[in-house]
Amino acid sequence: MKQFISTADVPSVPRLVEIALEYKKNPFKDRELGKDKTLGMIFLNPSLRTRLSTQVAAKQLGMEPIVFNIDKEGWQLEMNDGVIMNGNTSEHVKEAAAVMGQYFDILAIRTFPGLKNKEEDYTEKYINQFIKYAGVPVVSLESATLHPLQSLTDVITMKERWQENRKPKVVMTWAPHVKALPQAVPNSFAQWVNAWGEADFVITHPEGYELDEKFTNGARIEYNQDEALKDADFVYVKNWSSYKDYGKITCTDSSWMVTNDKLKHTNNAKVMHCLPVRRNVVIADEVLDGPNSIVIPEAGNRVWAAQAVLSEILKGL
Ligand code: CP
Repeated sequence: MKQFISTADVPSVPRLVEIALEYKKNPFKDRELGKDKTLGMIFLNPSLRTRLSTQVAAKQLGMEPIVFNIDKEGWQLEMNDGVIMNGNTSEHVKEAAAVMGQYFDILAIRTFPGLKNKEEDYTEKYINQFIKYAGVPVVSLESATLHPLQSLTDVITMKERWQENRKPKVVMTWAPHVKALPQAVPNSFAQWVNAWGEADFVITHPEGYELDEKFTNGARIEYNQDEALKDADFVYVKNWSSYKDYGKITCTDSSWMVTNDKLKHTNNAKVMHCLPVRRNVVIADEVLDGPNSIVIPEAGNRVWAAQAVLSEILKGL
């Protein structure tokens, strides 16, 4: 694997899931693979799970991870080519990415969307500038439109729990939130579930929250949440801001929050969320603290997803 930005970089999603589950059984089996190799982890935005799980994964492969909070500790980056840099930006990504490419064998980056300019966000301008200038493989720690390490984790989490001889019904439901959030997690979840190909996939959200069809392609869209949840085996809960009315909150209906009453429609579904989650806004306490929630083991699986991805890139260096 040459980079990890989306499913397009992965030869086989089911195989990558298997590799991750092999690491879960035996975390240190490839501790020599990353010996004398460094992973640069560049954060333009906050993180708990992605930051820590990727460091643990790198260490289990024998790599040295180095974290740089570039938004707080680095020079302010200029991302546009050909500009006269007489404003607030001090260093161009051309130099910054190229220099970091000299120090690290693999460069991992987190860069959220601005949610102001749809075209700028959906062309993945920031991460693409790093890919263009770094000269080493780039791993997304969440970009403007996708969060592939999270989605690989989510597929792993469903795969390891599903033993029945039929496809699970997987429902991704929008839920309310007080802030305008990116579409990266739901876009990515849709892309990965589609690429996985082992689920009956339904997406439910209020009208106006349709995601980019390039990612949802193939999924059934159902505007009635109760109807969508019928017989669900997994319920993936997430808020996102509008793609159509870009970056806006156009619905605040608290009845979309996931409660035990909502789960009565399901096949005793397991409830997933990428975290962090706002309790009693997105998901009720009774669900997060109850037997249906698998959000903690889901977050635990972030390590195996990161380890599978790093190992596949290391093998190609
Ligand atoms: N789910 C996730 O990516 O968590 P962090 O933002 O804390 O890394």
